[in-house]
Amino acid sequence: MDVTLKRDLEGVDWREVAAVYAETLGPEDPAQLERTWSRSYATALAYVDGGLAGVARAISDGEREALIVGVAVRPAYQRRGIATAMMRALMDDLRRTAIILTCEEDENVAFYESLGFRTHKRAMVLGMGRARPPQPLDGDLPGRQGANHNDKRAFSTNSWSRAPHEPTLCGTTG
Ligand SMILES: CC(C)(COP(=O)(O)OP(=O)(O)OC[C@H]1O[C@@H](n2cnc3c(N)ncnc32)[C@H](O)[C@@H]1OP(=O)(O)O)[C@@H](O)C(=O)NCCC(=O)NCCS
Repeated sequence: MDVTLKRDLEGVDWREVAAVYAETLGPEDPAQLERTWSRSYATALAYVDGGLAGVARAISDGEREALIVGVAVRPAYQRRGIATAMMRALMDDLRRTAIILTCEEDENVAFYESLGFRTHKRAMVLGMGRARPPQPLDGDLPGRQGANHNDKRAFSTNSWSRAPHEPTLCGTTG
């Protein structure tokens, strides 16, 4: 199996990324994926024989804290080390920061523990999860180089609906 890790977003087919999520974490809007991934600190896309098999990304200030989200490998390619390779690439990019991630499924704990993550005693989250509907945008968003994560144009805070199953904090490292 020939696995290639792509670390930039040039030429990414966002419908292909959405297809990976449709098979794993749930449906996503390709246009929103392009926006959110473009504003991420680091990304990893794993291709097998030219097709997209796995994806993962990190949001970070680059110095103190980082959040890894959206780690997913298509079922046909799981248990072959693809998520490990993507995670190690992101962890290398984030070697100076603490890394936080959430996981809802108990079965994923072993995966993150295998990378050194440990369960944190408590996490508190607000408005996080897949149930939050896409919010309308009222302006252009900054690109990867000029990311401004405080840009209030990106969403309206008073219209969030809380996820029915908020994720538990699975691990931190750093
Ligand atoms: C979790 C996920 C990303 C792991 O991807 P993967 O490519 O299969 O992971 P790896 O092959 O790198 O696994 C490395 C190790 O993690 C552990 N592991 C991975 N998946 C596991 C599972 N379902 N049960 C138990 N251990 C698991 C194993 O120790 C594994 O090593 P081994 O195969 O030699 O035993 C993948 O199962 C997935 O996409 N699941 C659906 C989406 C999801 O839940 N994402 C995580 C959101 S928090």
